[in-house]
Amino acid sequence: MDLYEAIYKRRDIRKFRPDPVPEDALGRILEAAHHAGSVGFMQPWNFILVRDLAVRGRVKASFEEHNRAAAELYEGGRRELYESLKLEGILESPLNICVTCDRRRGGTVLGRASILDTDLFSTCCAVQNLWLAARAEGVGVGWVSILDNAALTAALALPEGVVPLAYLCVGYPVEFPESPMLESVGWRGRLPLGDLVFRDRFGQR
Ligand SMILES: Cc1cc2nc3c(=O)[nH]c(=O)nc-3n(C[C@H](O)[C@H](O)[C@H](O)COP(=O)(O)O)c2cc1C
Repeated sequence: MDLYEAIYKRRDIRKFRPDPVPEDALGRILEAAHHAGSVGFMQPWNFILVRDLAVRGRVKASFEEHNRAAAELYEGGRRELYESLKLEGILESPLNICVTCDRRRGGTVLGRASILDTDLFSTCCAVQNLWLAARAEGVGVGWVSILDNAALTAALALPEGVVPLAYLCVGYPVEFPESPMLESVGWRGRLPLGDLVFRDRFGQR
């Protein structure tokens, strides 16, 4: 699969088959993540491979609490639609990966003095590499953000200064849908690119 194909065929996956991802494929996916760009070559990421069902149960409980709260933000048909959506595959997927960002790694990092959050941006680049490499391997990834960072920190025993950046469900998908699920159910569509590109200053077409 070439890069553009992986980009266009990548999907957020919430429905998984139970078969495990072979170690060699997982190794290639993690290696791709580890080859992301990072501010000052800081490489602030760690990848916590979460298989323990007790740990995953704690994460799922946090999801359920936050998902209930999120549903309250909508009313009527929109709420009904929200409540019908499957927004995670924490327990069904054979593997969860928490990608963390160690905000203290490397001391005074070249290029990070002005914009402290560049370590977080770098870790997002690693997540995107992971997501695309997984797609090229036929492996699905679903990002779960309807969660409490404090609950993740406790469940995964993260030390001071290490923050959870992405909690990912990983495994072979039931399918790779053609379009984003939120688009197919009528929640929200892709914006026209032409509306998003400006000339020289914000808003100028
Ligand atoms: C930072 C981030 C957080 C996300 N959190 C969730 C989530 O909690 N649950 C979910 O079902 N999808 C989540 N998604 C997936 C998005 O809904 C999805 O990327 C978007 O609808 C476009 O669909 P596609 O990824 O299949 O192209 C998240 C994606 C990103 C980048």
